Amino acid sequence: MSPDVTGAPTITKTCETCGRTFEKPGLTGRFAETFARMLRHCDECAATQRATEQLQQQEARQAADDREWESRIQGSGIPRHLVAGLTLTGTPTRAADLCSQFANGQINGLFLTGPVGTGKTTLAGRAFAHRLRNRRGYWRSAPGLLADLGAPMGSATHGEALGVLTGRRMLGLDDLDKVRPTEYAAEQIYAAIDNAYIHRLPLIVTTNLELEELAKRWPHFGESIASRLADHCQTALVAGPDRRTLPKDDA
Ligand SMILES: Nc1ncnc2c1ncn2[C@@H]1O[C@H](COP(=O)(O)OP(=O)(O)O)[C@@H](O)[C@H]1O
Ligand SMILES: [Mg+2]
Ligand SMILES: [Zn+2]
Repeated sequence: MSPDVTGAPTITKTCETCGRTFEKPGLTGRFAETFARMLRHCDECAATQRATEQLQQQEARQAADDREWESRIQGSGIPRHLVAGLTLTGTPTRAADLCSQFANGQINGLFLTGPVGTGKTTLAGRAFAHRLRNRRGYWRSAPGLLADLGAPMGSATHGEALGVLTGRRMLGLDDLDKVRPTEYAAEQIYAAIDNAYIHRLPLIVTTNLELEELAKRWPHFGESIASRLADHCQTALVAGPDRRTLPKDDA
Protein backbone atom coordinates (compact mmCIF):
# COMPACT_ATOMS: atom_id res chain seq x y z
CA MET A 1 0.00 0.00 0.00
CA SER A 2 1.38 3.43 -0.88
CA PRO A 3 1.84 5.89 1.99
CA ASP A 4 -1.00 8.31 2.67
CA VAL A 5 0.05 11.83 1.66
CA THR A 6 -3.35 13.52 1.78
CA GLY A 7 -3.27 16.52 4.05
CA ALA A 8 0.39 15.88 4.66
CA PRO A 9 2.60 18.62 6.05
CA THR A 10 5.05 20.35 3.77
CA ILE A 11 8.68 19.60 4.53
CA THR A 12 11.18 22.39 3.92
CA LYS A 13 14.82 21.33 3.71
CA THR A 14 18.19 22.41 2.39
CA CYS A 15 19.58 20.25 -0.44
CA GLU A 16 22.85 18.66 0.68
CA THR A 17 24.17 18.81 -2.85
CA CYS A 18 23.31 22.26 -4.20
CA GLY A 19 22.45 24.07 -0.95
CA ARG A 20 19.10 25.32 -2.23
CA THR A 21 16.01 25.25 -0.06
CA PHE A 22 13.33 22.92 -1.39
CA GLU A 23 9.88 21.84 -0.37
CA LYS A 24 8.20 18.44 -0.56
CA PRO A 25 4.95 17.06 0.73
CA GLY A 26 5.72 14.98 3.82
CA LEU A 27 3.97 12.00 5.41
CA THR A 28 1.74 11.69 8.39
CA GLY A 29 1.90 8.77 10.77
CA ARG A 30 4.78 6.78 12.12
CA PHE A 31 7.08 7.10 9.12
CA ALA A 32 6.74 10.87 8.91
CA GLU A 33 9.98 11.61 10.76
CA THR A 34 12.06 8.99 8.99
CA PHE A 35 10.75 10.19 5.65
CA ALA A 36 11.62 13.80 6.45
CA ARG A 37 15.12 12.77 7.56
CA MET A 38 15.72 10.81 4.37
CA LEU A 39 14.84 13.75 2.16
CA ARG A 40 18.32 15.09 1.64
CA HIS A 41 18.41 16.26 -1.96
CA CYS A 42 16.18 18.37 -4.16
CA ASP A 43 14.47 16.59 -7.08
CA GLU A 44 17.01 17.86 -9.60
CA CYS A 45 20.04 16.75 -7.61
CA ALA A 46 18.41 13.39 -6.88
CA ALA A 47 17.79 12.86 -10.62
CA THR A 48 21.38 13.82 -11.44
CA GLN A 49 22.62 11.39 -8.82
CA ARG A 50 20.49 8.56 -10.21
CA ALA A 51 21.77 9.26 -13.72
CA THR A 52 25.37 9.28 -12.45
CA GLU A 53 24.85 5.95 -10.70
CA GLN A 54 23.40 4.43 -13.87
CA LEU A 55 26.37 5.66 -15.86
CA GLN A 56 28.79 4.21 -13.31
CA GLN A 57 27.02 0.86 -13.47
CA GLN A 58 27.20 0.92 -17.28
CA GLU A 59 30.91 1.73 -17.14
CA ALA A 60 31.52 -1.06 -14.64
CA ARG A 61 29.70 -3.54 -16.88
CA GLN A 62 31.70 -2.36 -19.90
CA ALA A 63 34.96 -2.71 -17.98
CA ALA A 64 34.00 -6.24 -16.92
CA ASP A 65 33.12 -7.10 -20.55
CA ASP A 66 36.47 -5.71 -21.70
CA ARG A 67 38.34 -7.77 -19.11
CA GLU A 68 36.48 -10.90 -20.21
CA TRP A 69 37.23 -10.09 -23.88
CA GLU A 70 40.91 -9.62 -23.10
CA SER A 71 41.04 -12.98 -21.36
CA ARG A 72 39.32 -14.63 -24.34
CA ILE A 73 41.79 -12.98 -26.74
CA GLN A 74 44.71 -14.32 -24.72
CA GLY A 75 43.13 -17.73 -24.36
CA SER A 76 42.34 -18.07 -28.06
CA GLY A 77 45.91 -17.91 -29.28
CA ILE A 78 45.22 -15.18 -31.84
CA PRO A 79 48.31 -13.03 -32.52
CA ARG A 80 47.80 -9.61 -30.95
CA HIS A 81 48.46 -7.67 -34.17
CA LEU A 82 45.44 -9.32 -35.79
CA VAL A 83 43.03 -8.08 -33.13
CA ALA A 84 43.17 -4.35 -33.82
CA GLY A 85 45.38 -1.46 -34.84
CA LEU A 86 45.72 -1.51 -38.60
CA THR A 87 43.11 0.53 -40.48
CA LEU A 88 41.85 -1.81 -43.18
CA THR A 89 41.49 -0.44 -46.68
CA GLY A 90 40.36 -1.77 -50.04
CA THR A 91 38.51 -4.84 -48.78
CA PRO A 92 36.27 -6.42 -51.44
CA THR A 93 32.61 -5.70 -50.58
CA ARG A 94 31.36 -9.27 -50.27
CA ALA A 95 34.25 -10.28 -48.04
CA ALA A 96 33.80 -7.17 -45.89
CA ASP A 97 30.04 -7.78 -45.53
CA LEU A 98 30.43 -11.44 -44.65
CA CYS A 99 33.21 -10.65 -42.18
CA SER A 100 31.03 -8.20 -40.31
CA GLN A 101 28.16 -10.72 -40.36
CA PHE A 102 30.49 -13.31 -38.88
CA ALA A 103 31.79 -10.82 -36.33
CA ASN A 104 28.24 -9.99 -35.23
CA GLY A 105 27.09 -13.59 -35.02
CA GLN A 106 24.71 -13.43 -38.00
CA ILE A 107 26.50 -16.24 -39.84
CA ASN A 108 28.35 -19.21 -38.38
CA GLY A 109 30.76 -20.13 -41.13
CA LEU A 110 33.06 -18.12 -43.38
CA PHE A 111 35.55 -19.42 -45.92
CA LEU A 112 37.98 -16.78 -47.21
CA THR A 113 39.96 -17.75 -50.26
CA GLY A 114 42.29 -15.83 -52.55
CA PRO A 115 45.89 -15.34 -53.61
CA VAL A 116 48.78 -14.80 -51.21
CA GLY A 117 48.97 -11.51 -49.33
CA THR A 118 45.54 -10.09 -50.17
CA GLY A 119 44.53 -9.67 -46.51
CA LYS A 120 42.64 -12.89 -45.72
CA THR A 121 44.27 -13.54 -42.36
CA THR A 122 43.91 -9.91 -41.38
CA LEU A 123 40.18 -9.91 -42.19
CA ALA A 124 39.51 -13.25 -40.57
CA GLY A 125 41.46 -12.30 -37.45
CA ARG A 126 39.54 -9.07 -37.04
CA ALA A 127 36.17 -10.79 -37.42
CA PHE A 128 37.16 -13.66 -35.11
CA ALA A 129 38.45 -11.27 -32.43
CA HIS A 130 35.23 -9.26 -32.55
CA ARG A 131 33.14 -12.39 -32.11
CA LEU A 132 35.21 -13.34 -29.06
CA ARG A 133 33.10 -10.73 -27.27
CA ASN A 134 30.25 -13.23 -27.44
CA ARG A 135 31.98 -16.56 -27.08
CA ARG A 136 35.27 -18.32 -26.53
CA GLY A 137 37.32 -19.55 -29.43
CA TYR A 138 40.55 -21.08 -30.66
CA TRP A 139 42.64 -19.42 -33.32
CA ARG A 140 45.16 -21.73 -34.98
CA SER A 141 47.04 -21.84 -38.24
CA ALA A 142 46.55 -25.28 -39.73
CA PRO A 143 50.31 -26.01 -39.54
CA GLY A 144 50.28 -24.76 -35.93
CA LEU A 145 47.41 -27.07 -35.05
CA LEU A 146 49.27 -30.04 -36.51
CA ALA A 147 52.40 -29.08 -34.58
CA ASP A 148 50.38 -28.76 -31.34
CA LEU A 149 48.87 -32.19 -31.90
CA GLY A 150 52.41 -33.53 -32.00
CA ALA A 151 53.22 -32.05 -28.56
CA PRO A 152 53.72 -34.55 -25.71
CA MET A 153 50.55 -36.31 -24.60
CA GLY A 154 49.29 -34.74 -21.38
CA SER A 155 50.91 -31.34 -22.07
CA ALA A 156 48.73 -28.21 -22.04
CA THR A 157 49.53 -27.65 -25.73
CA HIS A 158 48.36 -31.11 -26.71
CA GLY A 159 45.27 -30.81 -24.51
CA GLU A 160 44.26 -27.56 -26.16
CA ALA A 161 44.81 -29.03 -29.61
CA LEU A 162 42.44 -31.85 -28.68
CA GLY A 163 40.06 -29.11 -27.53
CA VAL A 164 40.10 -27.73 -31.07
CA LEU A 165 39.20 -31.18 -32.43
CA THR A 166 36.55 -32.14 -29.90
CA GLY A 167 35.48 -29.04 -27.91
CA ARG A 168 32.63 -26.59 -28.33
CA ARG A 169 34.50 -23.38 -29.04
CA MET A 170 34.51 -21.23 -32.13
CA LEU A 171 37.43 -21.98 -34.44
CA GLY A 172 39.57 -19.70 -36.58
CA LEU A 173 41.64 -21.89 -38.89
CA ASP A 174 44.23 -19.91 -40.80
CA ASP A 175 46.13 -21.18 -43.87
CA LEU A 176 44.16 -24.40 -44.18
CA ASP A 177 46.12 -25.47 -47.27
CA LYS A 178 49.54 -24.95 -45.69
CA VAL A 179 49.97 -28.41 -44.20
CA ARG A 180 51.55 -31.25 -46.10
CA PRO A 181 48.74 -33.43 -47.39
CA THR A 182 49.57 -36.60 -45.50
CA GLU A 183 46.77 -38.92 -44.48
CA TYR A 184 47.47 -38.12 -40.82
CA ALA A 185 47.17 -34.36 -41.40
CA ALA A 186 44.01 -34.81 -43.47
CA GLU A 187 42.43 -36.85 -40.68
CA GLN A 188 43.19 -34.17 -38.06
CA ILE A 189 41.92 -31.35 -40.26
CA TYR A 190 38.82 -33.41 -40.99
CA ALA A 191 38.25 -33.93 -37.25
CA ALA A 192 38.50 -30.20 -36.52
CA ILE A 193 36.14 -29.23 -39.34
CA ASP A 194 33.69 -32.05 -38.70
CA ASN A 195 33.55 -31.04 -35.03
CA ALA A 196 32.64 -27.47 -35.97
CA TYR A 197 30.19 -28.80 -38.54
CA ILE A 198 28.23 -31.23 -36.39
CA HIS A 199 28.05 -28.87 -33.42
CA ARG A 200 27.30 -25.85 -35.59
CA LEU A 201 30.21 -23.93 -34.09
CA PRO A 202 31.35 -20.64 -35.59
CA LEU A 203 34.15 -21.44 -38.02
CA ILE A 204 36.26 -19.04 -40.05
CA VAL A 205 38.83 -20.42 -42.48
CA THR A 206 41.45 -18.84 -44.72
CA THR A 207 43.20 -20.56 -47.60
CA ASN A 208 44.81 -19.90 -50.96
CA LEU A 209 42.88 -22.77 -52.49
CA GLU A 210 39.30 -23.01 -53.72
CA LEU A 211 37.07 -25.71 -52.24
CA GLU A 212 37.43 -27.98 -55.28
CA GLU A 213 41.22 -27.75 -55.05
CA LEU A 214 41.09 -28.56 -51.35
CA ALA A 215 38.87 -31.54 -52.05
CA LYS A 216 41.52 -32.98 -54.34
CA ARG A 217 44.38 -32.17 -52.01
CA TRP A 218 43.69 -34.40 -49.01
CA PRO A 219 44.02 -38.19 -49.29
CA HIS A 220 40.70 -39.87 -48.41
CA PHE A 221 39.33 -36.91 -46.45
CA GLY A 222 39.41 -34.13 -49.04
CA GLU A 223 35.87 -34.54 -50.36
CA SER A 224 34.43 -34.80 -46.85
CA ILE A 225 36.30 -31.71 -45.68
CA ALA A 226 35.24 -29.67 -48.70
CA SER A 227 31.59 -30.74 -48.55
CA ARG A 228 31.29 -29.81 -44.87
CA LEU A 229 32.94 -26.46 -45.53
CA ALA A 230 30.59 -25.84 -48.45
CA ASP A 231 27.56 -26.57 -46.29
CA HIS A 232 28.68 -24.73 -43.15
CA CYS A 233 30.37 -21.67 -44.65
CA GLN A 234 29.67 -18.69 -46.84
CA THR A 235 32.52 -18.23 -49.28
CA ALA A 236 34.22 -14.96 -50.16
CA LEU A 237 37.03 -14.35 -52.57
CA VAL A 238 39.63 -11.90 -51.27
CA ALA A 239 41.24 -10.75 -54.49
CA GLY A 240 43.80 -7.99 -54.96
CA PRO A 241 47.54 -7.40 -55.05
CA ASP A 242 49.98 -9.05 -52.64
CA ARG A 243 50.02 -6.39 -49.94
CA ARG A 244 53.30 -7.74 -48.56
CA THR A 245 55.16 -6.68 -51.70
CA LEU A 246 53.34 -3.37 -52.23
CA PRO A 247 55.49 -0.26 -51.58
CA LYS A 248 55.11 0.64 -47.88
CA ASP A 249 53.44 3.94 -47.01
CA ASP A 250 55.68 5.55 -44.38
CA ALA A 251 53.08 8.10 -43.27
N1 LIG B 1 42.83 -4.25 -45.60
C1 LIG B 1 44.13 -4.03 -45.39
N2 LIG B 1 44.59 -2.78 -45.36
C2 LIG B 1 45.89 -2.54 -45.16
N3 LIG B 1 46.81 -3.49 -44.97
C3 LIG B 1 46.42 -4.78 -44.96
C4 LIG B 1 45.06 -5.10 -45.18
N4 LIG B 1 44.95 -6.44 -45.14
C5 LIG B 1 46.17 -6.92 -44.92
N5 LIG B 1 47.08 -5.93 -44.81
C6 LIG B 1 48.52 -6.14 -44.62
O1 LIG B 1 48.98 -6.90 -45.73
C7 LIG B 1 49.82 -7.97 -45.32
C8 LIG B 1 49.25 -9.30 -45.77
O2 LIG B 1 48.00 -9.53 -45.14
P1 LIG B 1 47.51 -10.98 -44.73
O3 LIG B 1 46.20 -10.80 -44.05
O4 LIG B 1 48.56 -11.70 -43.97
O5 LIG B 1 47.31 -11.66 -46.15
P2 LIG B 1 46.91 -13.16 -46.52
O6 LIG B 1 46.46 -13.84 -45.29
O7 LIG B 1 45.85 -13.02 -47.55
O8 LIG B 1 48.14 -13.79 -47.10
C9 LIG B 1 49.96 -7.85 -43.82
O9 LIG B 1 51.16 -7.17 -43.54
C10 LIG B 1 48.80 -7.00 -43.41
O10 LIG B 1 49.09 -6.24 -42.27
MG1 LIG C 1 47.27 -15.55 -44.38
ZN1 LIG D 1 19.98 20.22 -5.13
